[in-house]
Amino acid sequence: MTRKLAPSILSADFARLAEDVERVRDEADLLHVDVMDGHFVPNLTIGPPVVASLRKDTDLYLDCHLMIDNPGVLLDDFAEAGADSCTVHVELGDPRPLFDRMRSLGMRVGLVLNPETAFDAVVPYLDEIDILLVMSVHPGWGGQAFIPEVLDKVRAARREIDARNLAVEVEIDGGISVHTAREAADAGADILVAGSAIFHADDPRASAREIRRAAWPDAG
Ligand code: DX5
Ligand code: ZN
Repeated sequence: MTRKLAPSILSADFARLAEDVERVRDEADLLHVDVMDGHFVPNLTIGPPVVASLRKDTDLYLDCHLMIDNPGVLLDDFAEAGADSCTVHVELGDPRPLFDRMRSLGMRVGLVLNPETAFDAVVPYLDEIDILLVMSVHPGWGGQAFIPEVLDKVRAARREIDARNLAVEVEIDGGISVHTAREAADAGADILVAGSAIFHADDPRASAREIRRAAWPDAG
């Protein structure tokens, strides 16, 4: 298991993105980038040009969560922009062609499932991915309440990945704060995404540190 914190820039100030990233730099293992197209989810955010700008500004791992109907048309652009991984939704149908394209572009491969999607939907792909992202809110917006029922899927993923000795990291996204980080970590999540709990705090760096301590109190 790994222990990583991924601030989500969805709750940062997009007009001051570089400053906001710098504020959490020391407490961030990855930067979570939420890409929304106004179709797969109603909200609309950012895409490869912003990833390219981030890439010029930071050496942090760029973890791109694609909430878009047609990720295939943008994978080349994300790779070119400097994304380290792209994570695609299993709800879109067979993700294997997307995996192949990501691999050939040199990106790590992520697969994500929504709160209402059963764990069984991702089981056939576990040995083909690097990251399994479990949504703990309905995708589309930051600042929603954590859905505790998804922890069963985190536990199931942890069990299956460990039993099969796979190198997949389990990531959880949505409603992570000092109040929920511990149960997510205890359920077996390797990577905690947190947006509003970090960037809407007066001191984002301190808040990130507190989430990390809440999740992994014995980590020092
Ligand atoms: C929601 C996004 C999340 C979002 C989480 O669709 O996928 O990454 O930024 O925000 P918080 O941490 O505020 O729930
Ligand atoms: Zn996300």
